[in-house]
Amino acid sequence: MPQSLPTLCGSIMGSPFSLSAKIHNAAYAALGLDYTFVCFGIEDPVAGVAAIRTLGVRGMNVSMPYKTVVMEHLDAIDESALVIGAVNTIDNVDGVLTGYNTDYLGAVRALQEVCELNKQRVAVIGAGGAARAVVYGCLQAAARVTVFNRSSERGKVLSSDLGAHWGGGVETFAAQDFDIVINATSVGFKQPDSNPLDGLLASHLIVMDVAFMPVRTALLLQAAELGCRTVSGTRMLVHQACRQIELYTGMEAPIDIMEQAMLEEIQRLNL
Ligand SMILES: NC(=O)c1ccc[n+]([C@@H]2O[C@H](COP(=O)([O-])OP(=O)(O)OC[C@H]3O[C@@H](n4cnc5c(N)ncnc54)[C@H](OP(=O)(O)O)[C@@H]3O)[C@@H](O)[C@H]2O)c1
Repeated sequence: MPQSLPTLCGSIMGSPFSLSAKIHNAAYAALGLDYTFVCFGIEDPVAGVAAIRTLGVRGMNVSMPYKTVVMEHLDAIDESALVIGAVNTIDNVDGVLTGYNTDYLGAVRALQEVCELNKQRVAVIGAGGAARAVVYGCLQAAARVTVFNRSSERGKVLSSDLGAHWGGGVETFAAQDFDIVINATSVGFKQPDSNPLDGLLASHLIVMDVAFMPVRTALLLQAAELGCRTVSGTRMLVHQACRQIELYTGMEAPIDIMEQAMLEEIQRLNL
């Protein structure tokens, strides 16, 4: 198969964004690998997948808005990505492109740092791609999951696709019915003043936000003030990137170094 020197990895997305490049390149340097990661803002995802084959790109992250459209152009799809309906990672092994979803694993690994998920009552707010990954991961870890979403149609489809309960609109979320609540909407991302659960939290909850910019979102700040345990979107992000490093290199990911690079870049981006 075609090869590059140094070994090339990258990401394809609608418009280029520096964060994954910083995280991955920090990991490759720490592992002593002759790898380079480049972010490509592209318009044609099908040509993007063809380029992986033509250039021998070893691993390609996939971000918005191409996580679903790339799927039919790959050679194989991992079972979890198939059920979630989105691929965020393409692993190129000897010219065979396999699609994975590492977001669900990132969410589960981040949550499991603070609690067990088995039999926990989990409320997931949102029904987009991130919510599908989070719901899938929590169900895999044997949690009892209820979905809340602004659009009931999308929320019901997610719930029935994945086997979660449908709860209704966010305003129907009642803190006493849950142990863990996860914001998996886009509310709060690059919106430091927006909290999708404003006034709805209680101190017994573990509160997670998938939004990772700013690192301490309005939701996490309010949760911390109440005394809740919190899980940040950056922790999910770094764990999902660790899985990508494991796939692309076969080595254990240097999570602390990756997290430091991520946080420095978020600070540089001034959010
Ligand atoms: N930390 C990580 O590792 C990680 C990984 C992946 C994604 N993310 C983040 O996850 C977030 C969601 O991404 P996505 O791909 O799931 O997006 P998406 O597919 O566009 O879904 C957006 C979700 O947010 C809801 N929403 C949007 N605006 C809203 C509003 N004003 N009020 C209430 N609900 C609203 C939507 O509700 P409707 O269905 O009613 O429109 C939908 O449930 C993004 O911020 C992304 O950066 C984080």
